[in-house]
Amino acid sequence: MKRVAVLTSGGDAPGMNAAIRSVVRCGIAKGWMMYGVKNGYSGLISGNIREIGTRDVGGILQIGGTILGSARCEEFKTEEGRLKGIRALRQLGIDALVVIGGNGSQTGNYYLHTLGFPVVGVASTIDNDLYGTEMAIGVDTALNIALEAIDRLKTTASSHQRAFLVEVMGRDCGYLALMAGIAGGAEYILLPEVETDPEEVAETLRLAYEHGKEHAIIVVAEGAKYNASALVKYFEQHKDRLGFKIRETILGHVQRGGEPSAYDRILASKFGYGAIEAIDRGDFGVLVGQNKDEITTVPLEEVVSHKKEISMELVKLARILD
Ligand code: F6P
Repeated sequence: MKRVAVLTSGGDAPGMNAAIRSVVRCGIAKGWMMYGVKNGYSGLISGNIREIGTRDVGGILQIGGTILGSARCEEFKTEEGRLKGIRALRQLGIDALVVIGGNGSQTGNYYLHTLGFPVVGVASTIDNDLYGTEMAIGVDTALNIALEAIDRLKTTASSHQRAFLVEVMGRDCGYLALMAGIAGGAEYILLPEVETDPEEVAETLRLAYEHGKEHAIIVVAEGAKYNASALVKYFEQHKDRLGFKIRETILGHVQRGGEPSAYDRILASKFGYGAIEAIDRGDFGVLVGQNKDEITTVPLEEVVSHKKEISMELVKLARILD
């Protein structure tokens, strides 16, 4: 009988609980013993690991966050920290570890793999910046939250003839901003991947105002050179020329909270199943993700050594539609 542990790491993402539930239940269905590690790699280092059963993961499918807790752990960035984690797993006779998380977490996971511990990664990050999967757990929910915010802001924007700068999360990646901007009909989208002259944004606003638009929405990725605050500062010096009054809304962690969408629950359930199947066939050191509608495994080495790019075709499309 195998013993398999699961942990969630890095920024929480809606759907992580659905993934934990799936990993645990699919493992138990194989007759294995399942363990939960509390608080990501910090819990691994301190040996905060306990057995979990089917009922422990009941009623969590629809809940955001992660029942196991998560952390960004500095100590795990050192080999000493990772060896401590491996010792804790070996003490309990654990055969394999499933790590649910994004870039930083899968980098840590890759290091565990290079130290000889059998691991499988599950793609989970709202940023959708993880190479090796077209979609990650949490992206769909975060995108829908951003979209709902944009739709709501539009009504106030129209009532007051305002332009709203809506800053969305995504770290250095513009995926969420681009998709939210396209889905929300933004007048302009600022992305870390595309150099933007703030004067061009000002001109877009001025023209929209002149053409009688009642509102304008500018979606700004948090990682863009001109984020919402920087743009507000810039516009303060150009107030007279914009027409619209400007307001900024930074969505921040709101995007990571709340119930996961149906899409994320299903994706997470599939990924959990994929992780257990990978362990069963001895496919270690891989990331479970989704490509062309199939659940896939991609070597973690490939995942951590590549940067995922956003689609420049979609950037072009956004420009045409705005
Ligand atoms: O990676 C997910 C994410 O929410 C990013 O979009 C954001 O830049 C970052 O985490 C925020 O990190 P923290 O929750 O540690 O403040």
